[in-house]
Amino acid sequence: MGKHKIGWLPGDGIGVEVCAAARVVLDRLGFEAEYVEGDIGWECWRREGDAFPERTIDLLKSVDAAMFGAITSKPVKAAEAELAPGLQGKGLVYRSPIVRMRQLFDLYVCLRPCKAYPGNPINFKEGIDLVVFRENTEDLYAGVEFNPVPEEVAETLGQASKSFAPFKKLAGDEYAVSCKINTRAGSERIARAAFEFAREHGRKKLTIVHKANVVRATDGLFLEEAKAVAKDFPDIAVNDANIDAICMWLLKNPFDYDVLVAPNLYGDIISDLCAQMVGGLGFGCSGNIGAQLGVFEPTHGSAPKYAGQNKVNPLATILAAKMMLDWLGEADMASRLEAAVAAVIAEGAVRTYDMGGIATTMDMAEAVAAKV
Ligand code: NAI
Ligand code: MG
Repeated sequence: MGKHKIGWLPGDGIGVEVCAAARVVLDRLGFEAEYVEGDIGWECWRREGDAFPERTIDLLKSVDAAMFGAITSKPVKAAEAELAPGLQGKGLVYRSPIVRMRQLFDLYVCLRPCKAYPGNPINFKEGIDLVVFRENTEDLYAGVEFNPVPEEVAETLGQASKSFAPFKKLAGDEYAVSCKINTRAGSERIARAAFEFAREHGRKKLTIVHKANVVRATDGLFLEEAKAVAKDFPDIAVNDANIDAICMWLLKNPFDYDVLVAPNLYGDIISDLCAQMVGGLGFGCSGNIGAQLGVFEPTHGSAPKYAGQNKVNPLATILAAKMMLDWLGEADMASRLEAAVAAVIAEGAVRTYDMGGIATTMDMAEAVAAKV
């Protein structure tokens, strides 16, 4: 029995291996925890017809924080076809457990630090140190979609559309509509989280990412709210940038940026870009954080082609565990863990395949564990 109660959701494929690797490091750190394992993901769906069963939801209600590995997901038809025979034809519909988790627990902050650890051979440039705050519950991911488009929706859209006419002549099944929904409160709270982080961590600059010149209603509102929050943080320099332009500028001048805040979709895009600048999927870690719960994960998926091979890089998950320690207030363990990761990378003796080496998943975990 430990001090913290931690939900442990390895999921599918390499999720299982990278979580086991992170656990080796957490144990060696002396992190006192009671781990509660939960089922989530594709295998769970195939067996039970639910990728995120009630018991896992209940488990998350009872823990201080959770680690999540990765899951497999497939399109609707494959989902139905792979169900256990007894579950087929019952109208069960696959829904993404990650999106459900974020919405159900209101994990509105998606925090993605992207730091180039010195000596990583796959750094885009040495010295990059960016932090992305992605809004995690609304925007284009709100889940309000029409395909086919019902008549009453078509009518409303037709009235709202002045210059764009083509869809007005179409039948409801000839086009589709996904709604981008951004609330004032949702925009305000993600902006505030980003500014507070910047202040707490001594970061000097914050960039608001949007496309408000074109997507006027929603991105306009997001920009307006973020700028209003900025007034409470006169110590942080603020600017804003269009999503398209910033993809270019981030590559060209990554040192001009520090903390970035964005609505859901743009945040998803720039966080992949930023992760690739510091070594890619083997290094991308993420925290899904709400008022009550934080769920920490590598950003990569289940990589079926490497599953069970003890081959992939566990550092993304180990760095996610570091984020969890920070969030739990275990600052000392978090910094010891990060220093160990940095030392292993700097020495360069242990490298997984993505870093150009031959070390296994567990070799890497052991190397980090040996230094904590
Ligand atoms: P993926 O992230 O699973 O893997 C893509 C490729 O990236 C791999 O084949 C491998 O070359 C590399 N890679 C991933 N993780 C790595 C690591 N730790 N170390 C070294 N290299 C690594 O993405 P993919 O193949 O598009 O999707 C596979 C499955 O994962 C799909 O079913 C997809 O829906 C799901 N997925 C789940 C996510 C999640 O659980 N958060 C996120 C992304 C995809
Ligand atoms: Mg993504």
